[in-house]
Amino acid sequence: MSRRVIPGLEPPDAALESEVRTRLDQVEQALEKSVQIEASGMLTETSSYLIAAGGKRFRAMLVLLAGYFGDPADPRLIPGSVSIELVHLATLYHDDVIDEADARRGAPSANVRWDNTVAILTGDFLFARASEISTDLGTEVCALLSRTIAVLCDGQIREVSTSAKVDQEVSNYLEIIRRKTASLIATSCRLGGMLSDADPEHVDVLEEFGDALGLAYQLSDDIMDITSSQMELGKEPGQDLREGVYTLPVLQALAHDEHRAELARILSNGAPDGEMLDRALEIVRSGGSVETARAAVTDEVRRATRLAHRLPEGHSRHALIQLAKFLAARCGAEPT
Ligand code: IPE
Ligand code: IPE
Ligand code: MG
Ligand code: MG
Repeated sequence: MSRRVIPGLEPPDAALESEVRTRLDQVEQALEKSVQIEASGMLTETSSYLIAAGGKRFRAMLVLLAGYFGDPADPRLIPGSVSIELVHLATLYHDDVIDEADARRGAPSANVRWDNTVAILTGDFLFARASEISTDLGTEVCALLSRTIAVLCDGQIREVSTSAKVDQEVSNYLEIIRRKTASLIATSCRLGGMLSDADPEHVDVLEEFGDALGLAYQLSDDIMDITSSQMELGKEPGQDLREGVYTLPVLQALAHDEHRAELARILSNGAPDGEMLDRALEIVRSGGSVETARAAVTDEVRRATRLAHRLPEGHSRHALIQLAKFLAARCGAEPT
């Protein structure tokens, strides 16, 4: 039984939805199995922890949807989808250590439930499992995954090195999110095309589509970190600011808001907390900065839609466009 609501996949694509659900259930089972190893019960426990806590399986679904531009029943799509989701999971364990986050997927993060050492080792273990699974898919897939992980790490380290900097260029922020998030989403789309033997031209378009979708994904996540409630996020809002990660709405407020001098004073003292964090959030929420960031989401959703139109027409293309529009809707941006 599927427990997941698939955003963007709604009737009239009921047939596609039901097929993708069936395949996602297979991915789910393979994902759970991939961390069952006899050597260490503890690693199985710590890595099953976030799998069981939930998650949208967005990247896994993208692999499957992109598979519709070739043969969607190709059995390699399931392990391909699992290895992408394992890489994503690994980055979440590590990301919560980097960000000192205390909640993930509505549960205490692994670094809090256990400690940083356990979270780091669990992330490493998940990378290793992803890598082993991908070896069965050939050297091209292994190389693609490895390259993507390297780009993602580069994005994360660029973010760390610009932490709490108030004079960061928007272009630098965009490069960071392209690397830390859009790279894996673009690779998910490319992999689905590759493993289903889609036309190479369409495989390239799928990757470019994933880049636009991935930027919209992180931009909308960053907006929601400012605008949403704890209930909606499954974690405290304002986490990015608290960690000194100044995202697009904050950079816009620092450049244009009428209270920009006050905001710069607060943020240049290092990442804010307590009353200072509340005031910073108030400034970012009340001016036009969130709207400007939403416009950037709309731009990426439009780019994604234009790229999708270069793919063959059909239910799966429609579903990809719906997904892009869902990203605009989730953060209150204009869909197109
Ligand atoms: C969280 O990714 C990290 C980001 C890149 C924003 P998701 O929002 O896809 O997390 P889950 O997998 O659904 O928990
Ligand atoms: C997550 O970035 C990116 C990766 C895990 C590579 P964030 O730190 O912004 O994501 P959340 O908000 O913690 O999910
Ligand atoms: Mg984080
Ligand atoms: Mg982070």
